[in-house]
Amino acid sequence: MAQDLDRHASGTMPRLTVIGTGYLGATHAACMASLGFHVLGVDVDERKLEVLAGGGVPFFEPGLPELVRKGVESGRLRFTTSYEEAAAFGDVHFICVGTPQLAGSNAADMTYVDAAVEALAVHLDRPALVVGKSTVPVGTAERLTARLTALAPAGTDVELAWNPEFLREGFAVEDTLQPDRLVFGVSSEWALQQLRAAFAPVLELGTPEVVTDIATAQLVKAAANAFLATKISFINAMAEICERTDADVTDLALALSFDDRIGGKFLKPGLGFGGGCLPKDIRAFAHRAAELGVGKSVSFLQNVDEINVRRRERTVDLAEQLVGGRLAGLRIACLGAAFKPNSDDVRDAPALDVAHRFYRLGADVTLHDPEAMVNARRIRPELTYADSAFEAAADADLVVLLTEWTDFRQIDPLALGAVVSHRRILDGRHALDRDEWTAAGWDYRALGRRHA
Ligand SMILES: NC(=O)c1ccc[n+]([C@@H]2O[C@H](COP(=O)([O-])OP(=O)(O)OC[C@H]3O[C@@H](n4cnc5c(N)ncnc54)[C@H](O)[C@@H]3O)[C@@H](O)[C@H]2O)c1
Repeated sequence: MAQDLDRHASGTMPRLTVIGTGYLGATHAACMASLGFHVLGVDVDERKLEVLAGGGVPFFEPGLPELVRKGVESGRLRFTTSYEEAAAFGDVHFICVGTPQLAGSNAADMTYVDAAVEALAVHLDRPALVVGKSTVPVGTAERLTARLTALAPAGTDVELAWNPEFLREGFAVEDTLQPDRLVFGVSSEWALQQLRAAFAPVLELGTPEVVTDIATAQLVKAAANAFLATKISFINAMAEICERTDADVTDLALALSFDDRIGGKFLKPGLGFGGGCLPKDIRAFAHRAAELGVGKSVSFLQNVDEINVRRRERTVDLAEQLVGGRLAGLRIACLGAAFKPNSDDVRDAPALDVAHRFYRLGADVTLHDPEAMVNARRIRPELTYADSAFEAAADADLVVLLTEWTDFRQIDPLALGAVVSHRRILDGRHALDRDEWTAAGWDYRALGRRHA
């Protein structure tokens, strides 16, 4: 901290704004404030800002509430809806607004990025760096640079750079404070120096830095997500083959994982990926590649997406197999709604999708998730919600594990067996110990696993 005070005194610590204070922006703002920067968060959602300004966090992210509270108490972290204030305050402006899938298309919806950049630009009357962190289609920077230069009173003294974000929800604080790399897409030495100053405490940890042009920086994010999604769908494709051949995908994945060239991370078979990033990002990437006339280069992403969605259909098939017939009228306990554990994010969540598929087939679905109940209820009010896994499982004909929360992994199969009608468990995440559950009298099934 003494070093930070020196930097402030010598004016080398830029003042930061973070525009868009959702999962990414709120985390970035609070982490940067915790590193000693003065940070102003900007959003159009007044309710969200009120919670943040009060030292709270309007979503679930481990470790974040403490940082927001400390940042607000220290006076280094403030929030506003005013772009005028943001432009006057900041030297470096991080754009962290959403880029969801456009309705009726695979393209990314750039409305929010465009609106944020334009609202900021008209107030920029001194040199400033605008840094894109949102995930956008390659080529976006040219358009945004043109808008910035045209709208900003400071004209070409306002520059654009790109710093793609790789944080994982559930580990967002750790990933922001100790990222495995920083990618700086810049078009001038000045922009690079601004970015280095804005990330000085992170770079001092020895974090690898990749300096490149803006187009490459934007592509790095698309490529990283394409690779991760492909790895997950690869092992799920193997699960499909295992299901036809009475082979076991768990053993297969384990055997592959010992090969250093392959590695075991993201090689976990199951219900597949979801959330606010991977699905929409691979679709937007394929869409952008097609626009650029190189659609064939990433046409495999269509397969990756299809394999992923088929896992949800297959989970329903397996449930029918497990109960030996139709699901209509049966009581199904769904454990999990979030797209992954340690998150309350239900955007494109496989768990909630499968629960809803059961419901549409006429099952009586009761769901529990440790953190995502409010978000799940907002999207799927027709489902029944329970306050605990045991309450959800009471008198159930089938229990389905859909999100691998630690709470669910640690359930005692004997105790749960005492409250259900039938001891049938579908482990959609390969998260439970099959032998332990089988020994407790459960009929255990998992995608791609041989029926014991
Ligand atoms: N969530 C993640 O794990 C993650 C990781 C890496 C990258 N990203 C990318 O970061 C971006 C943001 O994702 P997110 O998950 O934080 O989304 P989010 O929906 O949680 O947050 C977006 C925020 O932007 C605000 N906003 C919208 N328009 C605005 C405007 N004109 N001015 C100011 N604020 C505005 C919204 O009110 C919202 O609070 C996306 O491009 C996403 O792909 C997200």
